[in-house]
Amino acid sequence: MDLIQVDHYDEMSARASQFIINKIRATNKFVLGLATGSTPEGIYRILREKNKNGVFSFQNVTTFNLDEYVGLSEEDSNSYRYYMNDKLFNHVDISKDQTFIPNGNAADLKAECQRYDERIERVGGIDLQVLGLGMNGHIGFNEPGTSFHSKTQIVDLTTSTRKANARFFATMEDVPKQAITMGVATIMQSKEILLLVSGDQKADALERLFNGKVSNDFPASRLKEHPKVTVIADQKATHCVR
Ligand code: F6R
Repeated sequence: MDLIQVDHYDEMSARASQFIINKIRATNKFVLGLATGSTPEGIYRILREKNKNGVFSFQNVTTFNLDEYVGLSEEDSNSYRYYMNDKLFNHVDISKDQTFIPNGNAADLKAECQRYDERIERVGGIDLQVLGLGMNGHIGFNEPGTSFHSKTQIVDLTTSTRKANARFFATMEDVPKQAITMGVATIMQSKEILLLVSGDQKADALERLFNGKVSNDFPASRLKEHPKVTVIADQKATHCVR
């Protein structure tokens, strides 16, 4: 894993968005894996601006998001489809039918998971997957204990993850208990991975990622076995990494 250490969140967002734009511009067909949450918000802001200013286009880009809550509709402001439309897709030159997010309201959730993996395979796999890091080491919604062989799957969210995400919901009870997520194996099949880490609250997790052993107690540790991972992290997150 290559570590790019930056001073603060805005610098992380600037470096990461430039990284993504360079990849998109280098080819005429690009498959981009995306994440939600707080970490990539700054990137989406920059991608919106640069797209509007004609610096690059999304026309040849297909996107696949990591995950979606089970049971929330697209119109629900807490669904990841809503988040992506609101923060990126509604403002850039991408056609919605090039944007894929698991359907957490599918009648048959298991079939939806399988369909999702097949769709990724049909387009030739993900060229670059953007990831955030959970405080407990989750990637996507693959919580500690998840098999490294997992493909897209339905998962129960841990109380710690539900608590971490409760800030977006009116009450803790409103936070969904399940999600669909790309599995660890799905993520590992991406040709390249960009992991973004910002803030004090991620420092312990980042330290464990770099200094700990590879174990499914800490799903992100599997990334150490991927041949092409770049980590961009700010000073608050990296102060424990030696
Ligand atoms: C989001 C996702 C999660 C987040 C992680 C960090 O699609 O899959 O793994 O990347 O929980 O979340 P933030 O960025 O909110 O700290």
